[in-house]
Amino acid sequence: MWWLAVIGFISAHPSSPSLPKLPHNWLSLAALTPTEAPPSRELDWSTHSSKLCSRLIGLNPVQKDVCAENPLVIQYVARGIREALYHCQDQFKNERWNCSDRHEVTDTSYGTFKDILGKTLRSATREGAFLTAISTAGLVYEVTKGCSTGNLSECGCDTKPDTQRYTDTIEMQQEPRNPTHHRLGQRSIEHFSWGGCSDNVPYGKKFARRFLDDWETREFEKDGDAKHLVHKHNFFVGREQIAQNIRRTCRCHGVSGSCEFKTCWLTMPKFSEVAEMLKKRYDNFAVQVAKKVRKRLRRKERGQRQLEIRGNELTYLLRSPSYCERNDTLGILGTSGRECVHRSHNSDDCDLLCCGRGYNTRMERRTTQCQCKFVWCCQVKCKECIHDVTVHTCK
Ligand SMILES: *[C@@H]1O[C@H](CO)[C@@H](O)[C@H](O)[C@H]1NC(C)=O
Ligand SMILES: *[C@@H]1O[C@H](CO)[C@@H](O)[C@H](O)[C@H]1NC(C)=O
Ligand SMILES: *[C@@H]1O[C@H](CO)[C@@H](O)[C@H](O)[C@H]1NC(C)=O
Repeated sequence: MWWLAVIGFISAHPSSPSLPKLPHNWLSLAALTPTEAPPSRELDWSTHSSKLCSRLIGLNPVQKDVCAENPLVIQYVARGIREALYHCQDQFKNERWNCSDRHEVTDTSYGTFKDILGKTLRSATREGAFLTAISTAGLVYEVTKGCSTGNLSECGCDTKPDTQRYTDTIEMQQEPRNPTHHRLGQRSIEHFSWGGCSDNVPYGKKFARRFLDDWETREFEKDGDAKHLVHKHNFFVGREQIAQNIRRTCRCHGVSGSCEFKTCWLTMPKFSEVAEMLKKRYDNFAVQVAKKVRKRLRRKERGQRQLEIRGNELTYLLRSPSYCERNDTLGILGTSGRECVHRSHNSDDCDLLCCGRGYNTRMERRTTQCQCKFVWCCQVKCKECIHDVTVHTCK
C-alpha cells in the first residue's frame, strides 16, 4: 500500500518540497497557540486533519497519525505539557538545572519550530528522565480532564470506576455524623454507590501509550538503542504517577448529614503533588542503566544487575553534566546570573549554585504583599511593603 502513503504525502505537503531536517520534540507543542492548534469543533476537521497535523513539525510520524485520527486531543496534550513545564520549573527553581533552556527556533514554511528543552529531552540523563516523566504525567492528566469535562468526543467519565486502583480521601463534601465510619480499611463494609464523574485515567494512559510508546517500540526494533527503552520506562513512571494516586471522594446524603447514602467518584491527585512526588523519585530513585540491552533494561552497577528495575524508579543512561557553564551544544544555560542564597546549605547556596566561581552582591528595593488580613467575607487584603534586600547573583 505504499502508493497510499505517497499520495498522502503529496497531498499533505502541497507547497513545501523541502522542510529542514528537524529533531522530533513533542514538547514543542507547548508553544502552539490556539489558532494554530487543530482543535475547534466548528471547523470541518475530518477532511483537513491529516494535512494540518502534518504541520505540527515537532511530532514524529506516529504522533502525526494519532493527531490525524484524533485532532481535538492535541490541544489537551499541549496543555498537559505546559502544566508539566510550569511545575518542572517550580520544582527545580533552586537547582543548577532549572528546567529552562535557550531553545533553538527554526523557521519553516509551516511556521516556527521551537525545540523546547529538546536537548535535555533527548539526552537520556537524569534530568531528561524527570522531564519525560513529568511531561507524560501532564499529558495523561490533561487528556483525562478533557474526557471528564466532556470536551473530547472519544472519551467521557469512567463508567467502571471500580476497576481502577484508588485510595480514599479523608475530606468529605459534607461532614458525616460519625466520622469513624470512613476510616480506611472499612471499605468492605461501607455502602456507597458510584455517581458523578470519575476521572477516566485508563483512557488517558492508553492515549499516552499510543502517543509516546509506539514510536519508541518501533525505533528500538530498528536500532536496538537502549535510549528507547529508557524513554519508555520513564513514560511508564509518568503515567503511573497519576494512576497510582487516584482517590475516591464521596458526598453524603441523608437526613441532615447522616450519611445514610453516599455517592463516590474517583479523582486524580493535584498536579503539584504529582510534580513533588516525581521530584522525590528524581532525588532518590533514579537508576543508571547499562547501554547494552537485549530485551530489557538492566542496572549499570555490577553488583545490582540481578535486581529488577522497579516501576517507581526513573531510568537514565548518561551521567549528568555539571550544568555550571553555558554550553549551547548541550542546551545548557549555565548558572551565571542566577540568584543564590548566602550559606543556605541547600541547592540554592551561593557556593553550590555558582560552582565556586563566586557571586556579586547588590542591594535591591523589592515590594511584597504583607500584613495580609482576612476580610469578612471572603477576601484577603494585603499591604504592599517595600524592603531593601541584599541580592546575590552568580558570576
Ligand atoms: C469545554 O467546552 C466548553 C464549551 O463546550 C467550554 O466552556 C469549557 O471551557 C471547555 N472546558 C475545557 C476544560 O476546555
Ligand atoms: C559542550 O559540551 C560538549 C560535549 O560535552 C563539549 O565537547 C564542548 O567542548 C562543550 N562546549 C563548550 C563551549 O564548553
Ligand atoms: C533559569 O536560569 C537561567 C539562567 O541560568 C535564567 O535565565 C532563567 O530565567 C531561569 N529559568 C527560570 C524558570 O527561572
